[in-house]
Amino acid sequence: MTTVSWATWRRHFESNARRPMPPPAELPELPEAWRAAITRSLARFQVGEAGEGRIAHQIDRHALRGVDADYRASLKLFVREEGRHARILAGLVRGLGGELLRAHWTERLFVRGRRLAGVRLKLLALLAAEVVGIEFYDLLARRLPAGELRARLEEIRADEAMHLEFHADFFRVHLRGPAPRACFLVGWWAVAGVAATLVVIDHGPSLRALELSRVELLRGLLARVASTARAALDPAARVTTPRAGQGPTTALRDAA
Ligand SMILES: [Fe+2]
Ligand SMILES: [Fe+2]
Repeated sequence: MTTVSWATWRRHFESNARRPMPPPAELPELPEAWRAAITRSLARFQVGEAGEGRIAHQIDRHALRGVDADYRASLKLFVREEGRHARILAGLVRGLGGELLRAHWTERLFVRGRRLAGVRLKLLALLAAEVVGIEFYDLLARRLPAGELRARLEEIRADEAMHLEFHADFFRVHLRGPAPRACFLVGWWAVAGVAATLVVIDHGPSLRALELSRVELLRGLLARVASTARAALDPAARVTTPRAGQGPTTALRDAA
C-alpha cells in the first residue's frame, strides 16, 4: 500500500512560494517569424495558467480517500504557483511585443469541461494539463538559444514536472481495486488524448514557424500520457523523465 506524505508536498510548495518573482527577462534576438510564433503560443498558455482556483476550494467540501489538511493546503499553493507561471508568461508575452488574450477556445473548452465534472475528473484534467505543459515548454525551451527566455520556460517546466508528481500521487493513493483503476485508465486516455491532440492542432502554425515537428510533439505527449498512467497505477513507478538536470530531485513519496 502506498502512503503519501502530503506534509512533504506542503513544505515543497511553501518553499516554492517564497521565491521572488524574477525580473523582466532580457529577451534574445529572434527571427521575426519565431518571435511571432513564440508570442502566439505563450499567450495561449498564459490564459491556461491564469485559470481558475475553484478546485482548491471545492476540495474543502469533499471527503476523499487519502486526502488531509496538508493535501488541501498543497492544492491551494499549487494553484498559486500556476498563477506565478501566468505572471511570468504575461511578462514574456508583453516583452516580445505581444498582447495578452482574455480567453482562448481551448481554455474555454477545458474550463467548461472541468465545471461539468466532479472533483476527481477535475484533478484528472489538471494532470493532463501538466503533461501538455511539460512537453510543450520543453520542446520550445530546447529550440531557444541559452538565455533568460529559455531559463524562464525551463523553470516553469520544472515546476510542472513536480505538479505532475503531486497529482499522480493523489491517484496513487486514491485508486484502489480493479474497477476504479479501469475507470481511471479509460478517463485518462480520453481526457489526456484529447488534450494532446488539441495542443498539437492549436499550436501547429507556431510549430511550423519554429521548424518543430508536430509528430515529435505528439510522440512526446503520448509517451508521457502512457508513463503517467503507469505511474498513477503503480506506486513503484516514477512519472517524470528528468532532462538536463530538470525535474524532481528528491523522492517525495513515502512508501509503506
Ligand atoms: Fe503552470
Ligand atoms: Fe502545473
